[in-house]
Amino acid sequence: MTGKTAFIFLLTATMVFAVPGAPGQARELVTIFFTGNELGEMQPCGCSGGQLGGLDRRYTVFNTINPQNRLIIDTGSLVPESTEQNLIKFNIIVQAFARLGYDVVNLTEQDILIARQAGLLDGLGLLFNCITAGKTEDMKLPEKYTKKFTLNGIVFEAAVVAAETEDQISRLPDLFSSPAGSPSAVKILILNRADAKTVAAVSEMHIFDLLIVPSQAEDEPILVSDANASPLVISSGRLGKYVGKIQAILDGAGQKPRLKFTSVPVTGNIPQHQPLVELYKDYQRLVKDAGIIEKQPRFILPGNLEYVGSKYCKLCHDYEYEKWMTSKQVSIPGLGKQASLDSRHADAFAALEKVGSEYDPECVVCHAVGMQYQTGYISPAKTPELKDVGCENCHGPGSEHLRSLGAIETSGPMSTCSDCHTAEQSGEYAANQKQYFEKIIHWREPVSIVRVAEPNRSSK
Ligand code: HEC
Ligand code: HEC
Ligand code: HEC
Ligand code: HEC
Repeated sequence: MTGKTAFIFLLTATMVFAVPGAPGQARELVTIFFTGNELGEMQPCGCSGGQLGGLDRRYTVFNTINPQNRLIIDTGSLVPESTEQNLIKFNIIVQAFARLGYDVVNLTEQDILIARQAGLLDGLGLLFNCITAGKTEDMKLPEKYTKKFTLNGIVFEAAVVAAETEDQISRLPDLFSSPAGSPSAVKILILNRADAKTVAAVSEMHIFDLLIVPSQAEDEPILVSDANASPLVISSGRLGKYVGKIQAILDGAGQKPRLKFTSVPVTGNIPQHQPLVELYKDYQRLVKDAGIIEKQPRFILPGNLEYVGSKYCKLCHDYEYEKWMTSKQVSIPGLGKQASLDSRHADAFAALEKVGSEYDPECVVCHAVGMQYQTGYISPAKTPELKDVGCENCHGPGSEHLRSLGAIETSGPMSTCSDCHTAEQSGEYAANQKQYFEKIIHWREPVSIVRVAEPNRSSK
């Protein structure tokens, strides 16, 4: 079914619901929220406007519904890998989930591995209910969770089950005594795989009302099945940018609930929940205290090159240096009335300090010089001269050039604009490359501008 038909269906469905129920007919609502595949994203980096996400704002989305009338599910994959920084993230995310009021979290096998590595596995059950389709010989996590709601005398039940392997899928019928659509119940399956064959096989069991499958590439949860299919098949979404929302509408005791799906973008104008803002600060502090940035693996530079810092370039390139440093207000068509004729590259580290992320290597990598390389940025104390986006980000490590008094050209790893100005970190860049480029002009020869539109100097 096309998106357009799905839209039409939803409209029709809404109109039907708008008709008041016959006397004695209740139309109670239970709302099911679901998220998944956070992959370590707790809040947007703030590099660019219009970014979605944030656990602190997710709280406000959930709290549009009374806790007695909602079920909150996460489908798992909290962090992408088991590095030390991701173990810290895992710890913070599970604490956040507890504060967010999650009823049940589906732990993938990797989530379990990471929870164990972080020493958190035994405590998770105190924060929320866990289910899993992963192997758990040593801890016996259940694969099913049930929550009961009582609404004006109607008892309604929501069951959430996780499955992944053929074997688990074939045993699904054993977990339920009655078929789908049985009195006032909604049966939800979190399927840890999304192949069409498995989805079709599970659908044909006629047990489930809702299947949540992993997202392929879309950040937003999307309807995979027809809008009126049973089960409804929906992808989980990714990176915490959206919250999936299912309204289960009950017409009365013993009736099969109708499900209505929407996805809620977690936008920047949704209020933040202060305790979760504080929790992110705990994260920043833990990353700092663990010295994660000092432990980053670092590539060896070719030809014994070393980073020296922008101030050494000033010795001979005073003009370029002053241009790089100075901010001027001018009007540039296409970038607003009063844009600054400055890349702000020379202040890029201060932007991190302002938000408390100056010890987070995931941020510093684009806001300082050469963090991924030996002799590159380590910390404000050890390498103060390598803060900010400096000359050597774009021109390469300058030691040989400096030693030879300019006779040997700069070389080595050179970043191009789009290495840092990515779609996520610099939403405006792609459509305004010319304006961005004009803002950073710090060289004398006008021919340079013509020579390179989007400079790619790494071939040098
Ligand atoms: C001791 C003086 C001196 C210092 C210090 C110096 N340069 Fe140069 N640089 C030169 C000279 C001389 C040239 C070649 C003449 C010209 O084009 O101005 C040059 C040319 C360049 C060029 C154009 C040719 C090329 O190598 O691609 C770049 C880019 C450059 N320098 C960047 C830097 C950077 C970055 C630093 C700091 C790490 C730096 N320079 C430090 C003297 C210096
Ligand atoms: C891939 C490179 C990259 C990474 C990683 C990155 N940034 Fe940025 N950041 C940028 C770029 C590029 C800009 C400028 C964007 C623009 O103006 O188009 C920027 C701008 C910013 C700004 C200034 C926004 C403003 O309007 O003044 C802040 C604050 C910031 N980043 C914080 C962070 C934090 C916090 C992290 C880590 C969570 C981070 N950045 C990670 C590239 C990056
Ligand atoms: C954001 C990337 C970036 C930063 C930061 C940067 N440059 Fe450049 N630089 C360029 C680009 C792009 C050009 C012009 C196009 C070209 O030659 O590739 C250029 C040109 C130059 C040139 C003239 C080279 C020539 O062949 O004509 C010099 C010299 C130079 N930069 C020095 C510096 C110095 C010194 C700093 C630090 C104070 C600096 N640059 C910071 C990107 C950068
Ligand atoms: C090493 C990463 C990096 C590279 C490479 C880089 N930038 Fe940036 N750029 C940043 C960061 C970080 C900021 C934001 C600084 C801040 O706001 O404090 C930024 C900001 C800017 C801004 C200011 C945007 C605004 O809204 O005013 C412009 C313009 C810009 N960069 C142009 C360029 C161009 C052109 C290139 C390539 C020649 C380039 N940058 C290469 C990281 C980078």
